[in-house]
Amino acid sequence: MRRKIVAGNWKMNNTLEEGVVLAKEINELVEKTDIKDVNVIIGTPFIHLTEVNKVVGDKVAVAAQNCADQTSGAYTGEISAPMIQSTGSKYVILGHSERRSYYGETNEILVKKVNLTLENNLLPIFCIGEVLEERQAEKHFDVVKSQIAEGLFHLSADDFGKIVLAYEPVWAIGTGVTASSAQAQEMHAFIRKTLVEQYGEEVANNTSILYGGSCKPSNAKELFANADVDGGLIGGASLKAEDFMGIITAF
Ligand code: G3P
Repeated sequence: MRRKIVAGNWKMNNTLEEGVVLAKEINELVEKTDIKDVNVIIGTPFIHLTEVNKVVGDKVAVAAQNCADQTSGAYTGEISAPMIQSTGSKYVILGHSERRSYYGETNEILVKKVNLTLENNLLPIFCIGEVLEERQAEKHFDVVKSQIAEGLFHLSADDFGKIVLAYEPVWAIGTGVTASSAQAQEMHAFIRKTLVEQYGEEVANNTSILYGGSCKPSNAKELFANADVDGGLIGGASLKAEDFMGIITAF
């Protein structure tokens, strides 16, 4: 059964105290709202994981925004998948375009991170998406397909079934320039077809494909009405509980 998911990505925002307050506000709104069958996830910086897991109920899951490509050792400053798992978190956002561009995260590195995430009973939210120049050159389908294939197609059908995909056109992230409903559906349908070719109809149809990139309460309903858009990965609008709820209730 394909899940509807709205995941917040706080990125590098909120002190520990601010994060716990925001998580409590979101949890309170989720608890008192009929969110139907929407899965809610909060993606926080590492420092919040333990405390946020303590204040949310069973309707809200917590995600890290990255993990190391090693399990332990002399990797100063890194946080491993076993460490993330020990905080009670369930998901790890991987391959975000900001990590790909700012920190040189390649598909080869991401293969290791995906494997370690799964080996530690965590669920990857795997990000893909083209930059503006690639879309303008009409290479966006090739780019997205290669990101998925190189980062994930080594997985068995069972393991791929644990993956959540997030299509985030880089030109829409943080810009206020959201992909149109038609653009989102076109790419999501292409991604679904790519999964059918690799894993078959059942796995493809059970994979949640989220849209990310200036998704707001004002545009979420139209985006989520598309057959192959199963929810959103939300940046700026996840930093205010009311805005985040406006997206969660947009289905
Ligand atoms: O991971 C989600 C993020 O990249 C989208 O950011 O601020 O455009 O919703 P924003």
